[in-house]
Amino acid sequence: MIVHDSERRLWVLSGPSSSYVLHLDDHDRLRVLHWGSRLTVAQAASLPLLPRQPFRPVEDAAEGTLDLTATGGLFYGHAAVQVRFADGTRDLELVPTGQRRTDRELVLTFADRHYPLTVECHYGVHEDSDVIERHLVLRNEGEPVTVVRADSATWVLPRLDGYRLSCVRGQWGAETRLHRTELPYGETVTTSRRGVTSHQANPWAMVDDGTAGEEHGEVYSCALAWSGSWRLTAQRLPTERVTLSAGAGHDPVTQELGAGEELVTPVCAGLYTDGGFGAASRAWHDHQLRHVLPHPGEARPVLYNSWEATGFDVSLEGQIELAEKAARIGVELFVVDDGWFGARTHDAAGLGDWHPNPRRFPDGLGPLIDRVHELGMRFGLWVEPEMVNPDSDLYRAHPDWVIHRPHRRRTEHRNQLVLDLSRPEVADWLYRTLDELLAKNAVDFLKWDMNRPFTEAGPDERLWTGHVRALYAVLDRLRAAHPHVRIESCSSGGGRVDLGILRRTDQVWASDDTDALDRLEIQHGFTQLYPARVMGAWVTDSPNPYTGRETPLDFRFHVAMAGVLGIGGALTDWSDAELERAAELVADYKRIRPLVQHGRQYRLLPPDRELSAVQYLAPDGSETAVLVHRRARRFGHPEPGVRLRALDPGARYRDRSTGRIHHGAVLLAHGVFPDLAPGDYASALVHLIRE
Ligand code: GLA
Repeated sequence: MIVHDSERRLWVLSGPSSSYVLHLDDHDRLRVLHWGSRLTVAQAASLPLLPRQPFRPVEDAAEGTLDLTATGGLFYGHAAVQVRFADGTRDLELVPTGQRRTDRELVLTFADRHYPLTVECHYGVHEDSDVIERHLVLRNEGEPVTVVRADSATWVLPRLDGYRLSCVRGQWGAETRLHRTELPYGETVTTSRRGVTSHQANPWAMVDDGTAGEEHGEVYSCALAWSGSWRLTAQRLPTERVTLSAGAGHDPVTQELGAGEELVTPVCAGLYTDGGFGAASRAWHDHQLRHVLPHPGEARPVLYNSWEATGFDVSLEGQIELAEKAARIGVELFVVDDGWFGARTHDAAGLGDWHPNPRRFPDGLGPLIDRVHELGMRFGLWVEPEMVNPDSDLYRAHPDWVIHRPHRRRTEHRNQLVLDLSRPEVADWLYRTLDELLAKNAVDFLKWDMNRPFTEAGPDERLWTGHVRALYAVLDRLRAAHPHVRIESCSSGGGRVDLGILRRTDQVWASDDTDALDRLEIQHGFTQLYPARVMGAWVTDSPNPYTGRETPLDFRFHVAMAGVLGIGGALTDWSDAELERAAELVADYKRIRPLVQHGRQYRLLPPDRELSAVQYLAPDGSETAVLVHRRARRFGHPEPGVRLRALDPGARYRDRSTGRIHHGAVLLAHGVFPDLAPGDYASALVHLIRE
């Protein structure tokens, strides 16, 4: 999968259907000759090495084609590696010093011509995935070097007829909203300066030539596996070359690299696909299920979460009452949200004191956990371990543990401050506290929240990256010590969703906005990169507490069924008829769960239409499920059929609920006509089984 042609100084990195071809040119620059369809080494060897441009300087001609870019000489584009040596020199003069190679991994090493700094480019490929994983290792053996930027990868696109950028934008309660726009000339930067992945942008990008659709066209994409601040630079040069470069950290934060120290960047993964945005998404989903998630084969249980039902008003009796209703409708995991610990009866106190509130739980959590287990459900608990309220025993004992600067005020957000996990004693306390909580209580699941960004963090990248690395280390240690515990990543909703956190968690909370209509758009953007298998989605009350919109129970369920189904409503206020219907819908979900969580997703109709639809296909093609949502009925027009994808045209499919037989060819050409109720917010689940 990684082949080297030493004579031509070529490396061909291949997945099942794509190749990335690297070449060390006559000036020792590492260039990308090809990113696209799969090539043999002989085909790669015939690629043009450098277009002849006799009137242009050689540096200029190579612009926008380099895999490894560093400041120095006549290079003026976005440089992935930017340093300042102790004597003030900023130019790097990297020369190749060797390679290490296996079938799956390639390391190309470079060293500065004078200063004792080396740069290693690491590439990893997989037999079953076209995703290429790239990161850098910088090693310093001399006087301290300031690392201004170390992007994990710079992906070089081929010349296209046009360039269109796809990414997601958002804010709290409105995350992952797909944004597609022509890529302007210059540098388009998406970034987080918040210390966390962020609601505003997510560290991935896709580029096509402007003509790709859901099911056709070439798409070039990359995603950064990092949960702290980050920067992604999409560069379109006047010469019509485009690169995507991404790495941890944001300007102007820098990092000192002392003698003998190394910096290992997170992975930035790149993917070429032919087959439109749908194929790109499915390839990313498959990759995460095969190579990123810790327990990819597991089915995520239907969960209940008490947050919207009770807020901070948590009591043993109230939770048991909810748990009994939840069990009745088929919930498998019962999660107690905020408000169970310390003096946490509102959001201004208690964070940091991770022991049950003695007034609310006089005998500890045991009685609640036992009852939940007795009801046949697993038990989960909300924690926000990186945070502290100034009104807490922890803060009173260790006011210096928070991220702060001596002569600056400590900016509070939601009345809380961030613990500085880059300090070993703080990370240690955090591990011990959670380890004890899990050892003393039969907790099966943690909802790990992070509700505010960094402030007063200073210029030292050690804190910014150190916090994230310490978080990863605590998660890794906890998982090893408590292998049965599963973890949900949350950050005021979807503020910490990325390939880095997904390596150590089992699902994520996509948004605090649980309005079903808004969710359609959030989910559409979410699944561009991330799989349904990690996308937590709850059914809550109507009218929705956040938007005030009223939607039918079925509509709310049919939206949430597109991910990891959860219930977050005040079940004690639901009528018997609602609880019964909910139980039927939960049962429907369990039947299609293998398709949703482990099948392939086809976004049939986008959420901005009157009718939207998403299809899931079983890995072996034996079943398919289609969720259809009508947002609004306009002019009483008859609705068109919802055309399905990826079925066998020669096969026949039986509708599980009506028993009707459909021909694959007809479903592909004309679609299904679900029996939708009249009016707005009608929905249906069509579950077809191959005969
Ligand atoms: C955040 C989460 C919510 C809930 C609250 C609790 O906002 O996103 O789901 O857990 O915190 O305070």
